[in-house]
Amino acid sequence: MLGFSQVGAESEWRTANTQSIKDAAAKEGITLKFSDAQQKQENQIKAIRSFIAQRVDVIAFSPVVETGWEPVLREAKRAGIPVVLTDRSVSVKDESLWVSFLGSDFVEEGRRAAKWLVDYAPVKELAAKGEVNIVELQGTVGSAPAIDRKKGFEEILKNQPKFKIIRSQTGDFTRAKGKEVMEAFLKAEGKKINVLYAHNDDMAIGAIQAIEEAGLKPGKDIVIVSIDAVKGAFEAMIAGKLNCSVECSPLLGPQLMSIVKDVVAGKPVPRRIVTEEGVFPQETAAKEFPNRKY
Ligand code: AHR
Repeated sequence: MLGFSQVGAESEWRTANTQSIKDAAAKEGITLKFSDAQQKQENQIKAIRSFIAQRVDVIAFSPVVETGWEPVLREAKRAGIPVVLTDRSVSVKDESLWVSFLGSDFVEEGRRAAKWLVDYAPVKELAAKGEVNIVELQGTVGSAPAIDRKKGFEEILKNQPKFKIIRSQTGDFTRAKGKEVMEAFLKAEGKKINVLYAHNDDMAIGAIQAIEEAGLKPGKDIVIVSIDAVKGAFEAMIAGKLNCSVECSPLLGPQLMSIVKDVVAGKPVPRRIVTEEGVFPQETAAKEFPNRKY
């Protein structure tokens, strides 16, 4: 029996991730106890405690934020239940509290977004003439992807003096918040904004609406790069409204089930499995769209 505590249903990515986990468990004949935390750490802690009480064989979870997990993970360890981290990691001193972490390299995703941006011809032209003003929509405060995607992006830009992040705020990985925060950015900075970097596609899609409502052309007046490469992002790219999406694969179900089976069988499991991912600039979108699985 596998207990899985999911972050929530905040994005297209998350919906695909949930589906992948449910499908893979069914395919492998693994009984899945699934719990949706609605983006709240306290709900995830409750779910993990209930998995311990039910004596599941393995607990897996995608931690909404990085910190604050020691007490509940110690309870799982005391009960002899191995914990597998999927998608997002935790920051704990005692690394024996979890056995394996399966998911993306979020720092690398941030780097890829920035590398694409500095090489994008219209942005290069802007940089040749003056400054490139960037606004950033961050993911959920304290979450691994928000921390790491910011870090990777800034790491590349620190060698690019013309590129300035003029505003940065959380949009909590949702369309509604992405739109709301972009409206505030536009109100404060208006036409000064050259680029939007969104930590996920959903926030970029929300922001696109705000940009259009402000009478500007997303993808042209404001260059947009975001992360995930979900179908919604491909549609926006084909419509010319989004310039690039960096891939973050939610299809973690099959690999997770294989780790769960190995853990139960007492076999050694890799400590870290990094998901393989690509980068999809707008010009590749139409060709790639039919191949997309999420
Ligand atoms: O942890 C992965 C991130 O969480 C995805 O990029 C985002 O869309 C989701 O909400």
